[in-house]
Amino acid sequence: MDCARVEIDARRRIAEISPLLFGSFAEHLGRCIYGGLYDPGSPLADAAGFRLDVLEAVKELGVRMVRYPGGNFASGYHWRDGVGRNRPRRLELAWRSTEPNLFGTDEFLAWCEQAGAEPMLVVNLGSGTPEEAAGWVEYCNRPPGTQWSDLRAAHGHPAPYRVRWWGLGNEMDGPWQIGHLDAASYGRLADETARRMRAVDPELKLVLCGSSGTELSSYLSWDRVALEASWDSIDCLSLHRYLHEEGDPERYLASGLLLEEQLLATWATVEHVRAQKRSSKRVRLCWDEWNVWSGQWTPPNWEVAPPLLEENYTLADALVVAQWLNLFLRHCDKLEVACFAQLVNAIAPLHTRRDGLLKQTTFYPIALFGQLAKGEALELWAEGPSYRCGDLEVPQFDFSACQSGERGQLFAVNRSDQPAELEISWTDPPRSLSGLQQLSGHLEDRNLWGAEAVRTVQLPAPALEAGRCRLQVPGHSLSCLSW
Ligand code: AHR
Repeated sequence: MDCARVEIDARRRIAEISPLLFGSFAEHLGRCIYGGLYDPGSPLADAAGFRLDVLEAVKELGVRMVRYPGGNFASGYHWRDGVGRNRPRRLELAWRSTEPNLFGTDEFLAWCEQAGAEPMLVVNLGSGTPEEAAGWVEYCNRPPGTQWSDLRAAHGHPAPYRVRWWGLGNEMDGPWQIGHLDAASYGRLADETARRMRAVDPELKLVLCGSSGTELSSYLSWDRVALEASWDSIDCLSLHRYLHEEGDPERYLASGLLLEEQLLATWATVEHVRAQKRSSKRVRLCWDEWNVWSGQWTPPNWEVAPPLLEENYTLADALVVAQWLNLFLRHCDKLEVACFAQLVNAIAPLHTRRDGLLKQTTFYPIALFGQLAKGEALELWAEGPSYRCGDLEVPQFDFSACQSGERGQLFAVNRSDQPAELEISWTDPPRSLSGLQQLSGHLEDRNLWGAEAVRTVQLPAPALEAGRCRLQVPGHSLSCLSW
């Protein structure tokens, strides 16, 4: 049996883990909002129309932030359509659907309050203007006494919502985006919009659109140019990525390595601009769309909330998701926010029907990290087997660890089909090990209605002897050891 070794030294701290690394994303896309988190008339919904089974599962996932209303949707959305009475039904051009505007700003912010999640609102820089964006900030954050803040009060919420996080558009580098721009034009528009929004509320945290993936030829040059134009006005740079299996499961399971490359290259670009500007300001990363997604979609025929991007995930998908989360912990000194895309039904860990909710395989790693990854992330020393996969040398294990006070966790993904023994030692051993949770099975296992094949199981913690323990780890698995 293969053997790997990890050494945990609580003095080797990377940084405090931002709780906003456990964020998500809810777009007016398919059944994410309508029939997902908002389902008025359903016996499973409360008086406001919020699905209570979804809210409960969102809490189990440990979601601390939700980005809204898109995505591509944001680039054609006018926030005034979604507040008050007499809301228009509109053609929604990003996803070829009809938008009834029954759910808008006030509903979303009320939902976030119930979910215990911080909102991030994405302004429209596709068909919208800086003035419209500043008006939305006024609607949400100013005390009554002006046009838009009075409108909010008239809608039943006199107290300002104080929405802190705002996105300056969505994927503006993508030719598919409504109002797509070149990097310099976007950088100037983002800068102007940020200044107007900050004039209304100086407390805002603003996110600049970075590259929407690694495929476009503008990858990284987009980030550099947009950052140069808006450096003084923004707080974070976003990055996006979706992965899927392309007929080579081994390569798919190695994709954590490619994600690390993307993160480091994007970070190097931020640091390059910072050095060039001789700036002492820290701009951090906001990975505000990440997930596994086949990328497939069949354009609907202008229905309201058609079922779109409804994937059924495998164990392999869950193990890729777990590597993403490991990566976030290992680089929590660079990352302030991360949002898995999306929350319900569309490329989501939660799937609803009128009469119930299904937890997909990807639910389990997200919930494990969302519940347990707290405090400071730790740098590990590790050694173990690796294997060759095309041009990549792939370590069999992918790790992260964290500690808060005396409590800590080690997360370990075994990418290989081979079981292994893990020897874990501490320089300053804990008093006891409190638990072991594992997710394992066959790579192709999926959760279906009435047949959940993949879920986290609780196992007895191994014995701790002389500051070390041994764990038997199945092939293709995620383990979380707690002390
Ligand atoms: O999450 C689905 C879509 O993927 C989002 O709307 C867009 O931002 C990205 O391309």
